[in-house]
Amino acid sequence: MENILAPSILSADVMRMGEQVNAVAEAGAKYLHIDIMDGMFVPSMSYGICVVESIRKSCNMILDVHLMVTEPIRLVKAFAEAGADIITVHEEACSDVRETIELIHSLGCKAGLAIKPATPTETVEEYLDTVDLVLIMCVEPGFGGQKYVAGSEVKVAKSAEMIAKTGREIDLEVDGGINLGNVSEVLTAGANVIVAGSAIFKDPAANTRAFVEALQAAK
Ligand code: DX5
Ligand code: ZN
Repeated sequence: MENILAPSILSADVMRMGEQVNAVAEAGAKYLHIDIMDGMFVPSMSYGICVVESIRKSCNMILDVHLMVTEPIRLVKAFAEAGADIITVHEEACSDVRETIELIHSLGCKAGLAIKPATPTETVEEYLDTVDLVLIMCVEPGFGGQKYVAGSEVKVAKSAEMIAKTGREIDLEVDGGINLGNVSEVLTAGANVIVAGSAIFKDPAANTRAFVEALQAAK
């Protein structure tokens, strides 16, 4: 699987969003990671449907929408219509994971399944026949700029092993606390989609270039 960088615009400067999104795209990022929070599944709030819609109008990147919301099944249609390419939901937030994934697929989007640091890796196993992406959270979801939870790479390695057994092409994404100092660790463990927010947006173009280089070197 190709190694892909997914800058998280949670750390972007909202007043300069267009300029910063263009900068990461031009510097080689393929996915744009958009964090949606409802103040319920996670304590904070972030962007909504109209933000995805607005970005879609002038951005050709793959829009990777991470729903940190309770019962995301309520909202997947709106985000699909707004232009999401990948919709990732949390296992902990769904009363019916399979039904939620089926709905995402029926709307023509790829479906991702995310788990929090305390959720056992095995939880995703029963859905590997249908998901397109597994997201291992390396921090408690809800805020950018947190410290990587030590040992997350063990969950990544375990997921990679489970995915390999299926013979299916499934992206393995990591999110939270990733920087140039620890990215090789998660890549070695088997992750191929790397989310980074605070490590990118202080200088979007230069940091994206540095990450893309690290991702290519790890191939
Ligand atoms: C956190 C979000 C992340 C966040 C990552 O709940 O899901 O996508 O933006 O930010 P950093 O890379 O700063 O940890
Ligand atoms: Zn995220």
